[in-house]
Amino acid sequence: MPVTEGTHAQRISAERARYVAAGMATPRLVVAAAEGARITDVDGRSFIDFAGGIGCQNTGHRHAAVVEAVKEQADRYLHQCFMVGTYEPYVEVCKRLAELSPCGPGEQRSILVNSGAEAVENAVKIARAATGRPAVVVFDGAFHGRTLLAMTMTSKVKPYKAGFGPFAPEVYRAPVPYPHHGVSSDDAIAALEHLFKADVDPSTVACVVLEPVQGEGGFVTMPADYPARLAELCRAHGILYVDDEVQSGVGRTGTMWAIEHYEGVEPDLLVSGKSIGGGLPLAGVTGRAEVMDAVAPGGLGGTFGGNPLSCAAALAVLDVVSDEGFLAQARELGETLRARLDDIASRVQDIGEVRGLGPMLAFELAERTPDRAKAVVDAAFERGLVLLSCGLYGNVIRLLPPLTISPDELDEGLGILEESLGA
Ligand SMILES: Cc1ncc(COP(=O)(O)O)c(C=O)c1O
Repeated sequence: MPVTEGTHAQRISAERARYVAAGMATPRLVVAAAEGARITDVDGRSFIDFAGGIGCQNTGHRHAAVVEAVKEQADRYLHQCFMVGTYEPYVEVCKRLAELSPCGPGEQRSILVNSGAEAVENAVKIARAATGRPAVVVFDGAFHGRTLLAMTMTSKVKPYKAGFGPFAPEVYRAPVPYPHHGVSSDDAIAALEHLFKADVDPSTVACVVLEPVQGEGGFVTMPADYPARLAELCRAHGILYVDDEVQSGVGRTGTMWAIEHYEGVEPDLLVSGKSIGGGLPLAGVTGRAEVMDAVAPGGLGGTFGGNPLSCAAALAVLDVVSDEGFLAQARELGETLRARLDDIASRVQDIGEVRGLGPMLAFELAERTPDRAKAVVDAAFERGLVLLSCGLYGNVIRLLPPLTISPDELDEGLGILEESLGA
């Protein structure tokens, strides 16, 4: 029976509960339209968007260049499968990724896939093929996706892993530096060395996979020295360094890739996703030719990976984001946000830490339960702000607004955040 009472949002939500599996977490927002940093719901309510569909709208909803590129591409062809017919937009995205790659000198190659999880899994396949080794080292607080290997690599039992085992073999976990909770870079390096003594022979490790700023894990930000020290340890053991920038990449931290904030580190493989497609599904793996080409023809691929519409969108996104003016504006946004968050934190007693890189910022609430963060997210929604929490304990509030957000919208959103925190 169709539901006929209540608001339009309530009716659609009721239909959702009736027809969509409960395993998909249910938001209160029911979207009608979105533009820039604003979302309008089906009842005409306007929201400031500090979520961006979980970090997928660095260039804002419906960026004009993205919409135009997608429309033009839709008029040519929608799908070919890159293993059946070569099409230029796919090649062009790989060319742009090669130009923008942080993976050191030399020829760079890429593959394009549909999701971050798929890209992470492919990065591991490539690392295994390139090294001839089976093991993978990941970190506390990591989130790499929901498919079997990516879920195994992910570090949060509920809701991501509980009941979904058995997990993939040969995945080992090390502590991540987390100064706010007393884990320094020295501690994390010592723990990794211990892992290599106690649990896994480093000569069997294909790769480590690390987010420079952990996304779902709570925007835990790698200290300045850690990535280079990890890379050095990797080099000593012939292990490849995989940089998962699905959430932190494409301008989110004020540089194209977050790893650019760190000196002395050139990852072997870069995993990109989310915002690279401007709202369309796209993710990639990029690396030096000798690593990427370790896989024989046919070993990588997928029916829809690097879909033409997604590639057309990505070309527009990469043009917009690689512009130094855009990145400078993103860094300015980061400074404004940081100053406002520090100010809020000085007035809200239970904010433990404000952290992040550039405009990729979050604050951690002192209480290690999700209750307060959830209440803040709910209160913000009531006032017209879409906000997300994250972290192993669900007690971190992260800000992922479009980097194109106007000063007025930013101010309005932060005002709502303050009120919702009771600042
Ligand atoms: C760092 C990181 N890696 C991988 C993923 C998985 O991406 P997807 O949800 O597109 O599979 C995510 C998603 O949040 C992520 O933040």
